[in-house]
Amino acid sequence: MTVSDAARPGPAKPAAERPPVLEARLLQKRYGNLAALDKVSLALYPGEVVALLGDNGAGKSTLVKALSGALPIDAGDILFEGAKVASWNPKTAQRYGVATAWQDLALDTTCDIASNFFLGRELVRGRFLRSLAPLNRTAMRQEVERVMGDMGIRVDRMVGQPVARLSGGQRQSVAIAKASHWSDRVLFMDEPTAALGVRQSAMVLDLAKGIADSGSAVVIISHAIPQVLEHADRVVVLRHGRKVLDCDRADTTPDKVVAWMLGMEAT
Ligand SMILES: Nc1ncnc2c1ncn2[C@@H]1O[C@H](COP(=O)(O)OP(=O)(O)O)[C@@H](O)[C@H]1O
Ligand SMILES: [Mg+2]
Repeated sequence: MTVSDAARPGPAKPAAERPPVLEARLLQKRYGNLAALDKVSLALYPGEVVALLGDNGAGKSTLVKALSGALPIDAGDILFEGAKVASWNPKTAQRYGVATAWQDLALDTTCDIASNFFLGRELVRGRFLRSLAPLNRTAMRQEVERVMGDMGIRVDRMVGQPVARLSGGQRQSVAIAKASHWSDRVLFMDEPTAALGVRQSAMVLDLAKGIADSGSAVVIISHAIPQVLEHADRVVVLRHGRKVLDCDRADTTPDKVVAWMLGMEAT
């Protein structure tokens, strides 16, 4: 399984020219006395890759959970295409095309790629779901091969193998391809490369870039700072629940980003 450049339609357009697809305004989330999110605002634009960075406990996962509808917030607003969303929960988020690619743990490793791809879609008002019932396994595999092929992932004969036989990078690619196929507006990835080596991480990050190039906003949390910055258009840094940096990738360096993460730059 490889990621090629062939499936990429080209570089993303400048984000600032379009309205945000998803926006958080002054989000607050407390756990007892701890402010996990302290008035965090963030706008996500179609076609961009945002690197969401911060030290352990900075609030990255909390922010992603809030934005993907998995965690109720204490205060603040979530807007989809400029309109406030009254109740943002996993179902609403899914309906709007917002998803999180969970780590490979979300895959059933005893099943093949195709079964995993369609697993759990019963809940969703779906594109071709209604026509899915009569599909046989061969048709499902062909569909998955087509979808993953469109993303530049070649699954070859792997498509019929149990997911347990795939490498970490391949599994992560399947999880990401699945999430992005069913949710085409915003894709969150919480530490997608945490368990991967450099080459497999590059494969996953290339995939993220390809998904953004097809028009989604992609948010990646990663501790591999220089590597994730190579693939990002924008950098957001959280520290102690506050957003301390939000700038174009070109306007910062890995050293400066680390300094912001550690509180060694003035806010
Ligand atoms: N369910 C929870 N209960 C209590 N505290 C939590 C809970 N989830 C997260 N926290 C705390 O909120 C802060 C932010 O956590 P998190 O968003 O997971 O950080 P990050 O993903 O940046 O490492 C941390 O101090 C963490 O301990
Ligand atoms: Mg986290």
